[in-house]
Amino acid sequence: MSSNDTVIILKNVFKSYRQKSIVVHALSGISLEIYRGEIACIVGPSGSGKTTLLNIVGGLDRADSGRVIVDGVDITELDEGKLTEFRLRKIGFVFQALNLIPILTAVENVELPLAFMGLSKKERRERALEALEMVRLGDKAYRKPDELSGGEQQRVAIARALVTRPSIVLMDEPTAHLDSETGSELMKLVKRLNSKLKQTFIIATHDPIVVNSCEKVIRIRDGKIISIEGGRKSLSS
Ligand SMILES: Nc1ncnc2c1ncn2[C@@H]1O[C@H](COP(=O)(O)OP(=O)(O)O)[C@@H](O)[C@H]1O
Ligand SMILES: [Mg+2]
Repeated sequence: MSSNDTVIILKNVFKSYRQKSIVVHALSGISLEIYRGEIACIVGPSGSGKTTLLNIVGGLDRADSGRVIVDGVDITELDEGKLTEFRLRKIGFVFQALNLIPILTAVENVELPLAFMGLSKKERRERALEALEMVRLGDKAYRKPDELSGGEQQRVAIARALVTRPSIVLMDEPTAHLDSETGSELMKLVKRLNSKLKQTFIIATHDPIVVNSCEKVIRIRDGKIISIEGGRKSLSS
């Protein structure tokens, strides 16, 4: 079986959605492996299944069939409660819509996921400020989202994804609303965090700037993998 450095294994994952009378096959037999500490990107045109794939890896959505093994646990077998706990403990999400709450400051937005982790108010504030420091926004912690640039808001969303110290960070088209310079800054940040915290990143994108700075490139089309390039070798192989 897998060595313990394989952090994500998908085996023949299928997912379809019903849109009124028609069935859309979002994922049609996806199999892949991602190693611990890899920066992988999922590349494909709009509608190819990228978001669906991230949602299934992160336990936000369930596969119709196939296996999804994350950190040695088959999450397709978890009940809702266990799946919620899994998400909270292991996964950091940066959604395409950043979902920042406009009336809260940056640090308050970042603190939100910690509310469910049983930390004191003081600990929550410390952890949130530390996460903002990591994305180099320590000096803007008390601003509200509309007092920050698009790139800065993106970094707040990243800080919020990192504040629970997840082993896996999932990002959905993180550069979609950024200019190319801010986009490359973002990828530098991802690389810095990856080497410092050994986190695994999976990034859905069609931005060449992102693709060029990922170690592993997984191309999908119509819910199927068309190629996998690069990436680390398993230590056991
Ligand atoms: N919740 C949903 N309900 C119905 N259809 C969906 C839903 N989510 C995704 N789809 C469909 O599944 C396909 C893949 O979508 P998605 O994973 O969002 O692709 P991408 O992120 O690559 O643009 C698309 O045809 C989309 O319309
Ligand atoms: Mg998408």
